[in-house]
Amino acid sequence: MYSPSPAERFFEDFHQRRPGTTSAAFAHLRSDRHESSYAALAATLLPSSSPLTVLDLACGNGYLLKLLDELRPGRLHLIGVDMSQTELDVARSKLPNDVRLLKERAQALSITTASVDVVVSHLALMLMDDIER
Ligand SMILES: C[S@@+](CC[C@H](N)C(=O)[O-])C[C@H]1O[C@@H](n2cnc3c(N)ncnc32)[C@H](O)[C@@H]1O
Repeated sequence: MYSPSPAERFFEDFHQRRPGTTSAAFAHLRSDRHESSYAALAATLLPSSSPLTVLDLACGNGYLLKLLDELRPGRLHLIGVDMSQTELDVARSKLPNDVRLLKERAQALSITTASVDVVVSHLALMLMDDIER
């Protein structure tokens, strides 16, 4: 049976107490080319005009998903995964109903292999145990 690592217990506790901390800190930090690091990631999808299924891995409070939905309304099938229910609750409150949100660990996804066109992840991969998985 799976038991959370010390790092995962820390993140669960932190994000339960302080949802939205990451986007509050980073969403307004501009570079010379982009409004934010979220916008830089979103811009990587712009050249494609075909419908895409996009997974935001460790989506937090859904800031990037919201940006993607606004940039390509109705053109992206969006999925967010996070292990923090508190962050996902905030995300649910601001995203359209057709954005699928899953409370899962990135290392144990229920999503079918090869069912997603693009995976994005903002400020999260470096936090994960067993990154190869
Ligand atoms: C620094 S926050 C970034 C949130 C969001 N991507 C953003 O940039 O606003 C890290 C997020 O990763 C999530 N997280 C950390 N490890 C995870 C894992 N193994 N599986 C799923 N989510 C994870 C946390 O719950 C938290 O919401």
